[in-house]
Amino acid sequence: MALCRPPWPAPVPLPPSHLTSVQLRGQRTLAAGPFTAAPNGVRRARALDEDRLLEVEWGDGGKSLYPFTWLRDNCPCPLCTLQSAQARCLPLCRLDVHTGIDAVRVADDKVSIIWPDKHTSEFDPEWLRKRCFSSASRRAMREELFLNERVYWDSKLCVPTADFQEILRDDRAALAWLLALRRVGIVHVKGAPVVQGQVTRLSERIGYPRLTFYGHTWQVRDKPMANNVAYTSGALSLHTDYPALHNPPGVQFLHCLSGAQEGGESLAVDGFHAAEQLQREDPEAFRSLTSTRVDFTDTGRDYCDFAVQSKNRVIDVDHEGRVSRINYNNATRDSVLDLPVGQVQPFYRALKAYVEIMNRPQNVAVYRMEPGDVVTFDNHRVLHGRRSYVNGPGAVRHLEGAYLDWDEVMSRLRVLRRSVRGSGGK
Ligand SMILES: [Fe+2]
Ligand SMILES: [Zn+2]
Repeated sequence: MALCRPPWPAPVPLPPSHLTSVQLRGQRTLAAGPFTAAPNGVRRARALDEDRLLEVEWGDGGKSLYPFTWLRDNCPCPLCTLQSAQARCLPLCRLDVHTGIDAVRVADDKVSIIWPDKHTSEFDPEWLRKRCFSSASRRAMREELFLNERVYWDSKLCVPTADFQEILRDDRAALAWLLALRRVGIVHVKGAPVVQGQVTRLSERIGYPRLTFYGHTWQVRDKPMANNVAYTSGALSLHTDYPALHNPPGVQFLHCLSGAQEGGESLAVDGFHAAEQLQREDPEAFRSLTSTRVDFTDTGRDYCDFAVQSKNRVIDVDHEGRVSRINYNNATRDSVLDLPVGQVQPFYRALKAYVEIMNRPQNVAVYRMEPGDVVTFDNHRVLHGRRSYVNGPGAVRHLEGAYLDWDEVMSRLRVLRRSVRGSGGK
């Protein structure tokens, strides 16, 4: 893992006597080096022509292999890369996917390649090292980019907290908030002004809120002729929001503006942790919920009129079989169930097994929201619910909600990480 852990130490400049070494085509391998190099600097680079691979030997003795085609495709020169956008402008039709290399050299701590058409590419060692194709390096880069390592929790979770005003004004506080949101899946943001509009301010700290049929933001309170079970005073069983969409919102904010006279406690469960328990205790049920596509439906009128339908698996897994998204809301699970009749009963048994696990008291974190609290959580992972409540004079429960998508949240997290690291932080 040490290979790709940022920040990268600055490369040490090579002494002048080591600056140039060129090997021309005609040999079986083309090589440059060895040089005296810093641990992350390049000691030697050679072309393995038969395999069309460039082998880079690092100062610490490690080696990395880079396919010629990939190197040519990613030439950083101004002819091949639009510098202002850091975007490729070399069209694929001009890429020879069987290209050879004319010469390779290491100079000024850069790896230079001369291609058969005499085009030259210069690669920065740090850039190359981060893109090493070894499985350990790719895993490290995956984690650096997507932060998919999660911390699972249960009812004993001490929900991480953040301060609303600090998040708005301080990059480090905003970064810490988003890192906890990603890793733990839930953060209580405290100290928001007790007026509407705060979930929008928090969304705009990241980018923008996601518009849905319930509006840019939405008001959770007891409404006559409610178009959603959330807009009543009844209990809400554990659910994720909006599985009726094929791409449900990734993140949810709920700002408490006013509490009920009685009841209304909030519930949260780590759906990934519960799924892991299901996989261990009842693999057949896990297989059913990760393979059966369930119909969800949501029909009504709010931002405009709508008739939403989806087919989602209750438990989504990624290409490595790891749980990646929970899609479950009992209220919007459709009566249409597109299964052969013999699979209906096994599906119900599997669903019940998962719901029973998520409802175990040892899995359910219970908290009470006070005016000014904003709960921010991963809607792809955390199932949430509430106990029923009774309003009273001057005690009318009212939450304002907003959705965001993970792409936008992760974008802000990466930008903040860059700026915090740039100012000397971790
Ligand atoms: Fe909800
Ligand atoms: Zn180029």
